[in-house]
Amino acid sequence: MHARLLITTLVAAAAGAAQAAPPEVDYPAGWRTWAHVKSMTINPGHPLHESFGGTHHLYANAKALAGYRSGRFADGSVIVFDLLEAINADNTITEGPRKVVGVMAKDAKRYAATGGWGFEAFKGDTRERVVTQGKAASACFACHTQVKDQGYVFSKLRP
Ligand code: HEC
Repeated sequence: MHARLLITTLVAAAAGAAQAAPPEVDYPAGWRTWAHVKSMTINPGHPLHESFGGTHHLYANAKALAGYRSGRFADGSVIVFDLLEAINADNTITEGPRKVVGVMAKDAKRYAATGGWGFEAFKGDTRERVVTQGKAASACFACHTQVKDQGYVFSKLRP
C-alpha cells in the first residue's frame, strides 16, 4: 500500500518535472545542405551589430521552404541563421570564423509559449547552447513578434 503510494507520487513528480523543464531545440543535423534563403552583412554602427554583427546566411529545411512560399510554416519547419565574422579588407568582405548558429524550429504545441517557434543558438562550430529555450529565447521571440503576421519570420524568399 505504502509502496504503491510512493511510486504514484514519484511518477507524478517526474511528470511534473518533465512538464516544467523548458523544451529544448535540437541542433539541426545536416542544415548546411538545406536551401539558402538569403544573406546579409551587418556592419559596425548598426544597432544590432553587438549581437548580430557579421555576415549571416539563412537556410531552410524542406518544410520551412514550403512555409516561405505559402506563408504558413508547418510543424517540423526549421530555419538556420548562420552568422560568420565579416572581414572587411582590400575592398572586399570575406567570411571569417563562424560566430553562432541560430535556430528557429516550429512545433505549435511544444513551443506554444513563444508563438510555436523554439529559439536556440549554438556557439561557433560547437553544440554549446547560448540561448536556452525559456530564458533568453523570450528575448529572441520578443523581437520576432514584430513580424507576427508573417508567422514570426522576418526574411522573405526571393523567387
Ligand atoms: C532585435 C531583433 C531580433 C532579435 C533579438 C532576434 N532576431 Fe532573429 N532575426 C531578426 C531579423 C531582423 C531577422 C531577418 C534577417 C534577414 O533578413 O537577413 C532575423 C532572422 C532570424 C532567423 C531566420 C528566420 C527569419 O525570421 O527571417 C532566425 C532563425 C533567427 N532570426 C533566430 C533568432 C534567435 C535564435 C534569436 C535569439 C538568440 C533571435 N533571432 C533574436 C531580428 C531579431
